[in-house]
Amino acid sequence: MVQAWYMNEEPYDKREEHHKNPPKFVPLDDLFKLTGVEYYKLDINNLKSDETLENIKKERGYTYEDQITISPEHLPNYEEKLKIFYSEHIHTDEEIRLCVEGSGYFDVRDKNDSWIRVLVVPGDLLIVPAGIYHRFTLDTKNYIIARRFFVGEPVWTPYNRPADDMAARKEYVEKLNGGTFTKVN
Ligand code: LAC
Ligand code: NI
Repeated sequence: MVQAWYMNEEPYDKREEHHKNPPKFVPLDDLFKLTGVEYYKLDINNLKSDETLENIKKERGYTYEDQITISPEHLPNYEEKLKIFYSEHIHTDEEIRLCVEGSGYFDVRDKNDSWIRVLVVPGDLLIVPAGIYHRFTLDTKNYIIARRFFVGEPVWTPYNRPADDMAARKEYVEKLNGGTFTKVN
């Protein structure tokens, strides 16, 4: 099951867990209410027969799909890319990631602007809403393979914080405060 917790924001290695003392875990339902982030557990060894993924793709209209390997050996401009991934940003579209191998952390800001760290391992699918401030880092194992989905031609452009005047940001804040986020199933 996916794990999420409030981060301590001390400036040591971002790839460590950064638990608070004592740890403060965030149950999945709360994660959704506090951020609009959706989480699904898929059967990674039987993806072809897993109806959840097909359902989600159909419901959300994901027509594009690819796979990215992030590791020092596999990703060109690794250091530079990781710096970009870990700069707090938003997108104008959802960010959909399915971890198929390895692991990593998605950090997302909650309603009160606190960082929640979400650990993804194989079978974890995250839907990070458009307009939420977030960032990504590998953990100390330095390795993840993730499938990415998108509606139509993919746009991966990050808009670094502050991006409060962007329509995607305003819409996100409205939806979160109005409680109108809806899940696939
Ligand atoms: C992305 C993740 C790193 O934008 O947030 O691809
Ligand atoms: Ni992003």
